[in-house]
Amino acid sequence: MRVCVIGTGYVGLVTGASLAHIGHHVICVDNNEEKVKLMKAGQSPIYEPGLSDIMQSASSSGNLEFTTDLGAGVAHGEILFIAVGTPPLPTGESDTRYVEAVARGIGSHLDNSYKVIVNKSTVPIGSGDWVRMIVLDGVSERQKSLVAAGDVGVEEKFGEFTAQFDVVSNPEFLREGSAVYDTFNPDRIVLGSTNPKAIAMMQELYAPIVERKVAEDQSLPPVPVVVTDINSAEMIKYAANAFLATKISFINEVANICDRVGADVTQVAKGIGLDSRIGNKFLQAGIGWGGSCFPKDVSALIHTAEDYGYDAQLMKAAVTVNQRQRLIALEKLQQVLKILKGKTVGLLGLTFKPDTDDMRDAPALMLIEQLNRLGAKVKAFDPIVSSTGMRHGLTGVFVETDPERLADGCDALVLVTDWQQFRNLDFAKMAKLMNNPVMIDGRNFLDRKEVENAGFQYVGVGR
Ligand code: UDX
Repeated sequence: MRVCVIGTGYVGLVTGASLAHIGHHVICVDNNEEKVKLMKAGQSPIYEPGLSDIMQSASSSGNLEFTTDLGAGVAHGEILFIAVGTPPLPTGESDTRYVEAVARGIGSHLDNSYKVIVNKSTVPIGSGDWVRMIVLDGVSERQKSLVAAGDVGVEEKFGEFTAQFDVVSNPEFLREGSAVYDTFNPDRIVLGSTNPKAIAMMQELYAPIVERKVAEDQSLPPVPVVVTDINSAEMIKYAANAFLATKISFINEVANICDRVGADVTQVAKGIGLDSRIGNKFLQAGIGWGGSCFPKDVSALIHTAEDYGYDAQLMKAAVTVNQRQRLIALEKLQQVLKILKGKTVGLLGLTFKPDTDDMRDAPALMLIEQLNRLGAKVKAFDPIVSSTGMRHGLTGVFVETDPERLADGCDALVLVTDWQQFRNLDFAKMAKLMNNPVMIDGRNFLDRKEVENAGFQYVGVGR
């Protein structure tokens, strides 16, 4: 099928490259010329395992193209994905101005052919009708401007012109760091529209994924497809993220109680996770959730609830618990080191989770700020941040090039991000280089015995 993806951030680029990989002809549109140049050269502007490979193979087979020309993209696509950012505003609402600009732009380039316009961006609930309205605004603005420009043929051209399109909500559930894997191995696909033609086109688009043609385990039954109305589809996205964030806040709260009563939260998580009604995922206690989705989506849902006269107390509590949890490493450092002024603390990991270069709402940021405020010197080693030299505007922290340099002269280390390679550090060597070998394991990620045997005082979260 002919697909146009507008916006090449995480979601757009992964979606575009994945759809091209399964055989569709995809044109990705972005207004950033530098980025388009880079992608045309086969390079990915983001670090995401497996993405460059599928970008290169799909580009060389001619299935994946990049342009800054929205008109060309719209003319090409039978299915047009809106995949631009909806960053949080200071109020907690999402900023939909980019979606609005793209919807208007699509409208101004529509021709007589039927198009499915897909909302892939995480938009406020109820945006389906709003996008339709903006697209139609774009159509009429173009008509007006043609009349104003004295295009004499405009009446004839547009007399019989009716924009033929439907809006579908198709939220994504991909995780950073495994975005390509998640796209090819989804737990479900959600399609929000009451229009059978649009749904049929979307089903055709996703058929290779639904039939597990590109799945890791091709013997699995087909991927469930949830077809529903637009508002429910939009709500599914928010409810899924809010539930997962709440689940993590829940286990973090249990961990804090474990700390006080002398129980081990990793054992508790195992014990409750075996109950199939609870499930064993997202029960890893630690220094809290961050990233580009959970904080933004939970706030947006709380905000929407408020707009409609409802106080979403449980979700508010999940946020409050998370804010407090981000300071748990600081509390533990104070318990062990007492006065932090004049001490040196080394952070293992900076990104909000492993296998990404994303620092958005990363728990490390608040920790650095608070440690600086209390007069401690902060150093860090992160596999991505240290090797790429990207500093993401980080201040108040000295980024070291390897874990041993990090350990040198530290009074404590804090494991902030659960990068796999941190399991294989030379702990004994690092302990010897430190003033005071303390390891605050902010993700309960390390083997306690191994770290203790290497000479560290080990402090976990809730264990
Ligand atoms: C999340 C959702 O999982 C995904 O479906 C949605 O599309 C976007 O948001 P992502 O933000 O990439 O994906 O990361 P995820 O792996 O879900 O982790 C989110 C945060 O929760 C991270 O900060 C992570 O460290 C934390 N986390 C996760 C925990 O603290 N404990 C856990 O058990 C799981």
